[in-house]
Amino acid sequence: MSRTSSDRPYVICHMLPSIDGRIVFRDWRLNSATGEYEKTAQTFDAGAWIIGRISMEPYAGKARVPSRRTRERIPREDFIAKHEPSSYAIAIDPSGKLRWESNDIDGEHAVTVLTESVSDDYLAFLQSKGVSYLFAGKTRIDLRRVLRKLRSKLGIRRLLLEGGGTINGSFLAANLIDELSILIGPVADGSVGTATLFDVGNRRAPARNLKLLSIERRPGDIVWLRYKVRR
Ligand SMILES: NC(=O)c1ccc[n+]([C@@H]2O[C@H](COP(=O)([O-])OP(=O)(O)OC[C@H]3O[C@@H](n4cnc5c(N)ncnc54)[C@H](OP(=O)(O)O)[C@@H]3O)[C@@H](O)[C@H]2O)c1
Repeated sequence: MSRTSSDRPYVICHMLPSIDGRIVFRDWRLNSATGEYEKTAQTFDAGAWIIGRISMEPYAGKARVPSRRTRERIPREDFIAKHEPSSYAIAIDPSGKLRWESNDIDGEHAVTVLTESVSDDYLAFLQSKGVSYLFAGKTRIDLRRVLRKLRSKLGIRRLLLEGGGTINGSFLAANLIDELSILIGPVADGSVGTATLFDVGNRRAPARNLKLLSIERRPGDIVWLRYKVRR
């Protein structure tokens, strides 16, 4: 594994899909699956994980974003809040929808990636919560820029990309995934129109070829597949 390119983290997409590639747990009844997901994630010794805005919502919470009394503009400059040297829980949230209750998710420092189109009230809110933020474009997220900043500003050398399908699809389309770590849960889901491992949307989806690195049977009839993305 793990040649880390010098200006960005090595990216491992770590996911727990059904046998048919769907990722929204409905009534899957897989008791040990989340534990296995966390255990296998830890083997990568990554300093950070990144997820899409929708997947982050349950972790971020539902705090209220207050309106400021002042109209003073807040410069669109990256903000790194004071935090213990730790690992990082990162979201991509282009228009600032996440309503963070705190800057800590199970001991990991919360970081959010924004575009410059977010409101001043929202930036003031993030600062008040101590949530770090990075800008990655004026109105659209530039994923290469995100990765370069994660490396240069936070020192992240290895990053787990942990879903959902939209963020995974955007990394796949940008050819920024180095490795896949897929835990196939013993469930056939069959639902149409729910998130899958990679959802690229209307853009032309680029197929990427993979090289198998390992196959392992895990407790609970889970199969752990690891692949390198061929370049
Ligand atoms: N089984 C598993 O291993 C697993 C793991 C993770 C998540 N999940 C499930 O996946 C589901 C959510 O997946 P999802 O595909 O709907 O959502 P998602 O990928 O979690 O979040 C998508 C949103 O994140 C923002 N975003 C992500 N990448 C972006 C990019 N490159 N550029 C701009 N914005 C970007 C956008 O926010 P805006 O809409 O605000 O623009 C986008 O709509 C949930 O049900 C979750 O539980 C399953």
